[in-house]
Amino acid sequence: MRTKLVAGNWKMHGSLATNAGLLQAVRDGTTGKAEVAVCVPYPYLAQARAVLEGSAVAWGAQDVSEHAQGAFTGEVSGAMLVDFGCRFVLVGHSERRSFYGDTDALVAAKFAAAQTAGLIPVLCVGESLAEREAGVTGEVVTRQIDAVLANSGAGAFARAVVAYEPVWAIGTGRTASPQQAQEVHALIRARFARDSADVATGLRVLYGGSVKAGNAAELFGQPDIDGGLIGGASLVAADFLAICAAA
Ligand code: 13P
Repeated sequence: MRTKLVAGNWKMHGSLATNAGLLQAVRDGTTGKAEVAVCVPYPYLAQARAVLEGSAVAWGAQDVSEHAQGAFTGEVSGAMLVDFGCRFVLVGHSERRSFYGDTDALVAAKFAAAQTAGLIPVLCVGESLAEREAGVTGEVVTRQIDAVLANSGAGAFARAVVAYEPVWAIGTGRTASPQQAQEVHALIRARFARDSADVATGLRVLYGGSVKAGNAAELFGQPDIDGGLIGGASLVAADFLAICAAA
């Protein structure tokens, strides 16, 4: 039985002042049935640790360098994230892929660097609207996963999470239907099963893209949906906690 995981992705939102109440409310409202995490902007990792340490809520970052250390101005290493108590890190979020040039190969390198540092990478995959309409969703998602499998192997996914985030559903209010999401989640699990039945069975595949309190329960009720990666709704404590409760 896979424990559900609900992870908030704050993206580039927040301030010391607004985070304080949000983090405390998430801490106070988390029951511990599903696993809960928040991925905050780098400067707020210390604040997240100060509020969440010793609670049922884990924290993490939204990206990581593929390098361990060195002359890479502006980058943040996995070891630095571990220094701040991070458990999770997102890799390959569609906003990184589309706005910052994170290629499949770079994402694979970041995934490996995260694991080497002791973090649990959350590998984000998903197709654009044009790709869905062209009927190549399965190919796109498989290509994104295969790049990481080629670099790290299936065994690495015993210590990783996958998030399916259709780009057309992110921040648009247009959620994939539970059936649409389940279909891709099953395809993702089947891809892993080709390499390792055990890894496929244990792997948590989260859904992300306009998850709200009102649609979370039905999405999370699908057999291959093991929780959610939550953007906008993770910025409002009551909404995020309602989604966690649905898990
Ligand atoms: P929204 O929940 O705002 O659609 O964002 C999803 C997302 O990108 C989470 O990583």
